[in-house]
Amino acid sequence: MVVNDNIVELRHITKRFPGVLALDDVSFEVRRGEIHALVGENGAGKSTLIKIITGAHLPTAGEWIFNNQKMNECSPAISKAAGISVIYQEMNLMPHLTVLENIYFGKEAKHGVFLDKKRMFVDCIQRIEELGVPLNPNALVCNLSIAEQQVVEIIKAISEDSKFLIMDEPTAPLTGTETENLFAIVDKLRNKGVSILYISHRLDEVFKISDRVTVLRDGRYVITMNTVDTTRQLLIKYMVGREIGQDYPKRETPIGQPVLEVMGYTNSMLKDCSLTLHKGEILGLAGLVGAGRTELARAIFGADSITRGTLRLNGDTVNIRSPKDAISFGIGLITEDRKSEGLLLNKGIDFNIVYANLRNISKAGFVSKKKEISITQSNFETMNIKAYSYSQLAKTLSGGNQQKVVLAKWLATHCDVLIFDEPTRGIDVGAKREIYQLMCDLVLEGKSILMISSEMPELIGMSDRILVMRNGAIKGTLIREQVTQESILELATE
Ligand SMILES: Nc1ncnc2c1ncn2[C@@H]1O[C@H](COP(=O)(O)OP(=O)(O)OP(=O)(O)O)[C@@H](O)[C@H]1O
Ligand SMILES: [Mg+2]
Repeated sequence: MVVNDNIVELRHITKRFPGVLALDDVSFEVRRGEIHALVGENGAGKSTLIKIITGAHLPTAGEWIFNNQKMNECSPAISKAAGISVIYQEMNLMPHLTVLENIYFGKEAKHGVFLDKKRMFVDCIQRIEELGVPLNPNALVCNLSIAEQQVVEIIKAISEDSKFLIMDEPTAPLTGTETENLFAIVDKLRNKGVSILYISHRLDEVFKISDRVTVLRDGRYVITMNTVDTTRQLLIKYMVGREIGQDYPKRETPIGQPVLEVMGYTNSMLKDCSLTLHKGEILGLAGLVGAGRTELARAIFGADSITRGTLRLNGDTVNIRSPKDAISFGIGLITEDRKSEGLLLNKGIDFNIVYANLRNISKAGFVSKKKEISITQSNFETMNIKAYSYSQLAKTLSGGNQQKVVLAKWLATHCDVLIFDEPTRGIDVGAKREIYQLMCDLVLEGKSILMISSEMPELIGMSDRILVMRNGAIKGTLIREQVTQESILELATE
């Protein structure tokens, strides 16, 4: 075989799942030392392609070559041994082990026959500092936020001696600063000769770091371009096959009376947090990773307890001690962690959508099948979920479509106050626009939305007001007309 410039060559790769042709005759190459972006709508086949390269799936047809070797019977062990490492879209950490143990699992440093804990610790601290995220190597992973867990995933993947690094939406839970730090690391890796395949729905990132970009659509290869030779508009057109309108829909919903008043919420993570959400309002919650945004949402929803604070709903003081209480008062929380909180992975889409809503449709404990079907159908359509049947298992949906199921589930509950925690995480550009439209429709119906997002353009584009959090406290409020990325950052950083 001729030694050439390509680290990976994909030749006519096809992957068929029952009922779905996830990849259909895909061929392209990744060159040595390049950062190659892979983009496409939710369900386009990106993660499936990655799983073939990592040996998690065998292709139904086609072949591929890594570093001039044919990879016919690839397995995870073979892929790893060949120098391929991956940061998966869905986390794969062991929650009851520490950060350090997760990072070094299976590759512990040894001093003679003993584990060299000190060396691992020092090495770990150094890597954490490189990313610039405060993280304790001895913390249990289950106590970390999603973003912190993602940082552990990243450190874990890049602490291996890899030739080829695949990143499936690594920045989805990260904010601007951490993303910058990650990019600096990615650049260093490229300079060391590591080739990178980079999947992201954030197209600005694609333009920032990639050398070339490949587009998949409906499981088929569309085009590979030099990134400098293309534009955002063109890329979107190749991805969705049509032009989409402006990023944020216009909205002129009148803002009404206060609906939700949170006063002095305090617990181990929160310091005296107060906010007022009005009828018809979209209130944004900004802050860096670890600022306490998710913690505040969880406290309002009754998922975490508070040591002090009161909550008023439509003027009445209410006591919310559990998510069940919150739902009965018409407050819904759409979590950022769809895997552990939002979705039942081994259940169908229909079951997931109906689950949060059982109370409304069950008669003496039995769910009316007819009602279940009608709710599923209407929400399925609103969210434009891509699946071959209503009963397709949640775990077999693409990442973005899982997120849509989580949203659909909450739409079915008829809550008046909706807390969205990173609602568009992992969602493609076209579907993002649909979710924004949906949020606009919801407030127009008189509902109120508290939106947490790490994507500043989205917060600025959608919110009437933005609260900025830092160290568990609310540091300031910005109104729509005044808000800029700089003004948010100023409040969000020390
Ligand atoms: N194990 C599986 N069983 C059945 N269908 C599957 C399985 N894995 C993936 N699919 C289907 O294959 C298609 C491609 O999914 P894939 O996860 O590769 O999309 P993606 O491009 O990564 O999307 P996203 O941007 O939403 O992450 C989807 O229709 C998905 O439902
Ligand atoms: Mg995916």
